[in-house]
Amino acid sequence: MRKNIVAGNWKMNKTLQEGLALATELNEALAGETQKCDVVIGVPFIHLASAVAAVDANKVGVAAQNCANKESGAYTGEVSAAMVKSTGAGYIILGHSERREYYGETSAILNDKVALTLANGLTPIYCCGEALDVRNANEQNVYVKNQLEETVFNLSAEDFSKIVIAYEPIWAIGTGVTASTEQAQDMLAFIRTIIAEKFGAVIAENTSILYGGSCNAKNAPELFAQPDIDGGLIGGASLKVADFKAIIDAF
Ligand code: PGA
Repeated sequence: MRKNIVAGNWKMNKTLQEGLALATELNEALAGETQKCDVVIGVPFIHLASAVAAVDANKVGVAAQNCANKESGAYTGEVSAAMVKSTGAGYIILGHSERREYYGETSAILNDKVALTLANGLTPIYCCGEALDVRNANEQNVYVKNQLEETVFNLSAEDFSKIVIAYEPIWAIGTGVTASTEQAQDMLAFIRTIIAEKFGAVIAENTSILYGGSCNAKNAPELFAQPDIDGGLIGGASLKVADFKAIIDAF
């Protein structure tokens, strides 16, 4: 059975002290509760070890937001998947549209990052999603299919079954414009269909596919009630415990 997941993406927010306080407060808010979904926080690299220490690993998973496309060596400023693993984190968010757009991450680079993430026993949360002009031209399905075919569809079935997919339409990220429930459900159902075509029905059924883009406490219940939406990747609303907890409680 696939898991429901609510994953926060803090992006480049919070000092170490602020991040530690946020992780601690979230952990306290979840203590003693029976969760209906897995909860993950995607934190800046320098927060990883502290965040892992601050939360109950049974309640909150910790993700990096990126990793290097090289194993190790003379790559000044980079952080490897093995380093992320050594902090105790369990996930790496990969292929976020902000990484693709501002840092030139191509499918070739992402293939290496996904491979290194998996080789280190971490779970990639692999992002895909189209820009507004693609949506306006009604070419979003072809676009997203292409993004997946160039990257994670190259994996073996065994490796693919270890990843989480996050569909995040770029026009909905940080804009306050959420995809309608129907738009989100249609795309996630489409993604599940093409996973089934590529890897078979069982793997498709078992793949967690998340929606991201201005997901909040108000729209989460309806989004999460859809048959193919297995949770959310949450940016802005993951920065306050009350908001993030309300999204978690939407399941
Ligand atoms: P948002 O960001 O929830 O602030 O729109 C989502 C994301 O980029 O992961």
